[in-house]
Amino acid sequence: MFTSDIREQEILDYFKAILGVERVLTDRESLQQAGSDHTEDLVFLPEIVLQAQTTEEVSRILAYCNEHRLVITPRGAGTGLSGGCLPVQGSIVLDMRRMNQILEIDSENFQVTVEPGVITEVLQNAVQEHGLFYPVDPASKGSCFIGGNVAENSGGARALKYGVVKDYVLNLEIVLPDGSVMWTGANTLKNATGYNLTQLIVGSEGTLAVITKIVLKLLPQPTKDLLILVPFYSAEEACRAVNKVFLAGYDPSALEFMERDAILAAQKFIDDYSIPVPEEIQAHLLIEVNGNEETYLMQEIEGIVQVLEQFNTGEVLFADNQNDKDKLWRLRRVTGEAAKGSSVYKEEDTVVPRAKLPQLLAKVKALGKEYGFDSICYGHAGDGNLHVNIVKNNMPEDAWHNELPKAIRELFLYTKSLGGTLSGEHGIGYVQKQYMDIAFSAVALELMRQIKKVFDPNDILNPGKILPG
Ligand code: MLT
Ligand code: ZN
Repeated sequence: MFTSDIREQEILDYFKAILGVERVLTDRESLQQAGSDHTEDLVFLPEIVLQAQTTEEVSRILAYCNEHRLVITPRGAGTGLSGGCLPVQGSIVLDMRRMNQILEIDSENFQVTVEPGVITEVLQNAVQEHGLFYPVDPASKGSCFIGGNVAENSGGARALKYGVVKDYVLNLEIVLPDGSVMWTGANTLKNATGYNLTQLIVGSEGTLAVITKIVLKLLPQPTKDLLILVPFYSAEEACRAVNKVFLAGYDPSALEFMERDAILAAQKFIDDYSIPVPEEIQAHLLIEVNGNEETYLMQEIEGIVQVLEQFNTGEVLFADNQNDKDKLWRLRRVTGEAAKGSSVYKEEDTVVPRAKLPQLLAKVKALGKEYGFDSICYGHAGDGNLHVNIVKNNMPEDAWHNELPKAIRELFLYTKSLGGTLSGEHGIGYVQKQYMDIAFSAVALELMRQIKKVFDPNDILNPGKILPG
């Protein structure tokens, strides 16, 4: 229900006057679609979905919502995994899909200016045509929006070598909850001018402002890459091997971990069993090196294989043509969806200093035994970022709802004790906020509450996210 006392018809009339009838949606299907994302099986139905097309429209929408105390939740493609875009208080969803223009590719300065509704892979392909590279590649790059990536500070496989979204955002046009429009920084590679508002907005999950334009830094496009898949007889050993690659001086562009059940689920999901997974193999590392010098890359990959062969590995698979590379990456990219496909699930996005990864995996499995849950683990091992998909399978309802949160709390406490934190790249959103007291002191949380208040004194913009209580 609307939080305001003005009549629903009045609200609809106002928005229709700004956007036109066809961009003010109240039909069941649109509301349902705007009420969920990729987070568990959660659904919160809004009353209205608005599809803005310009910054000016966003500004007028927010100013109206602020004046009438109407809650509004911005939304990208809805591929988020922590419920950042879920309209948990109902009311209005601001759907950004129509703000989908690539406004300028500045090849001289290696920059691109985009609207938030551009699909990440579309952006990557567009800059690639200019020999430029936007390296941040979340698994959902084919459907997620760049605006959502900025809001959640997304990562992906190549974050290992190239960093995450925050490392590419130079400047943002944002609309504040009162409707003011402003830029956060400058289109420069360096900027030591005042508080870093750009980075405050990155990862703020649509709780402080709505992003309407994004200026990203680009790199030269690397021309060559090599990819291998290395099987291990022990999953913990695979995790132990990860750090040795870096200690030996190598710099892979991706180093991904998939435990046995993860790769099996992915194979089943896409019905492609062409990669052999022998009985005794418990995990795989998928490793990519990239650059421009084939001979150098060959030496690098051979060096990495030598490091890994000090462990108990199976036969290494070299993907020596584009088709095999695509096949392996596809397998890795569908893993998340595949792991979640067969059962109700909860996904944790734990991240620790890389050398602590084996301990983290061991703890996940020990907690699983203690509390009786199954988990499918995979993720960005080179970053120390382990995705833990806890699948319900036959776990009794009572244990799932009442015991599992205790196990997750224990897992996060342990993660923190290793020097890690709650989320590497999926954000806190709605489902992880109850654990924020583990990551931050009461003083830090209060500071965040005050920041939220400064931006959004009436708490109209995506309330009920990030901050507990
Ligand atoms: C991935 O690495 O596959 C993504 O973060 C998606 C996921 O974990 O579901
Ligand atoms: Zn991931």
